[in-house]
Amino acid sequence: MPSNSLTVTDNRTGKSYELPITDGTVKAMDLRQIKTSDEDFGLMTYDPAFMNTAACRSAITFIDGDKGILEYRGFPIEELAERGTFLETAYLLLHGELPSKAQLEAYAKDIRYHTYVHTNIIKFLEGFRYDAHPMGTLLGVVGALSTFYPDAKDIGDPKNRYVQHIRLMAKLPTLAAFAFRHNRGLPYEFPSNDLGYIGNFVNMTFSIGGKHEPNKVLQRALEILLILHADHEQNCSTSAVRAVGSSHVDPFSAVSAGIAALYGPLHGGANEAVLRMLDEIDTKAGIPKFIESVKKGDGRLMGFGHRVYKSYDPRAKLIKKVAYDVFQQTGMNPKLEIAVELEQIALKDEYFIKRKLYPNVDFYSGLIYQAMGYPTDYFTVLFALGRLPGWLAQWEEMITDGEQKIARPRQVYTGPVRRPYVPVEKR
Ligand code: ACO
Repeated sequence: MPSNSLTVTDNRTGKSYELPITDGTVKAMDLRQIKTSDEDFGLMTYDPAFMNTAACRSAITFIDGDKGILEYRGFPIEELAERGTFLETAYLLLHGELPSKAQLEAYAKDIRYHTYVHTNIIKFLEGFRYDAHPMGTLLGVVGALSTFYPDAKDIGDPKNRYVQHIRLMAKLPTLAAFAFRHNRGLPYEFPSNDLGYIGNFVNMTFSIGGKHEPNKVLQRALEILLILHADHEQNCSTSAVRAVGSSHVDPFSAVSAGIAALYGPLHGGANEAVLRMLDEIDTKAGIPKFIESVKKGDGRLMGFGHRVYKSYDPRAKLIKKVAYDVFQQTGMNPKLEIAVELEQIALKDEYFIKRKLYPNVDFYSGLIYQAMGYPTDYFTVLFALGRLPGWLAQWEEMITDGEQKIARPRQVYTGPVRRPYVPVEKR
């Protein structure tokens, strides 16, 4: 009779242990009983970078990396991107169900009422150099928001948590737009609450003299990109939000940690790196030389490869289509041609095939952002706007999960054994 358990024999002692298997996992804590003596601490797992460790139970996002499937709360990403809105998606991630019309209107209204930020934030922004990287600015300003809302510390109250959710959803576009205008030396454009979530953000970035002609196709393209980025289960930035939030700090500080994690070139910063890479390749003729340099280990093909997807990233497929829609509006960009050819060459190359390296979400997104008029160092800010509802839903799930405690990994100590202190004159 097969049993849903794992039998482990410790060859050091000859003892056997039966460990329950639940949802395809064994509990790392169940290994602690495996000891060679009473003084032994017990067995631990060693898993740098969490390659094979589930750190939580989550009902938010499902990914099958081998099949290239991504679902939010059971809804395929393709359907949400084609037919949904960003606010519907944010609501879905938080509450687990798509909103009714009335629920969606109430949610959008709550957000609309919180789009303004305290004017002291503007003084704070002025402290940044004119060329400050907007991700550095954003993570600083979002962290600073915690000082404006000390009530956000009361994370045990569900109503209070919802208010902070609304504040973050409402204010991040305003702060992101302020960071954009700061780099340009343009006066900050305040929210226009008669515009929708996306329209208001685009207006706050591009409006000059209070005027901006909205382009519906580009706004819908931006909305699709935000939907595609809205959550991606336990990625680096979400894990940062969860780990920092597990100390029960306020959500502004936890989200600020997520923005910091996203800033890195191996995570959200990759879209920026893709554009720099395409600049470096320069023409289609430069592709073979570039591919050879990657294969020799001189850098990576940015926008390729993923920890979880070992086939085509489903988001990359959708984004490639959006890229063509956008370029129909803005005119063809020679860099798109280089990217398409680079993708074709890499997908046929043994090096990339063997390692299951396919385009990820960042491969085409930067090209689209650039066509919309956003500068390269702003791309990751747009990613952060998209990822915010995912961070917030995961934070809420973590806070309400009775199994969670403060995140505190173990280590294998490899330093010197105990030794006496030597005074400086004797060293
Ligand atoms: N170009 C060239 N080789 C690569 C690439 C790449 N983009 N990605 C992985 N490899 C190679 C590695 O050199 C390694 O080869 P080896 O086995 O010969 O040593 C092998 O593939 C496995 O790579 P790992 O680094 O172990 O894979 P990991 O899962 O840790 O990394 C990551 C995933 C960080 C995304 C990686 O593929 C990468 O650096 N890609 C480029 C950056 C990028 O596009 N990041 C965006 C990810 S999506 C997101 O965060 C939104």
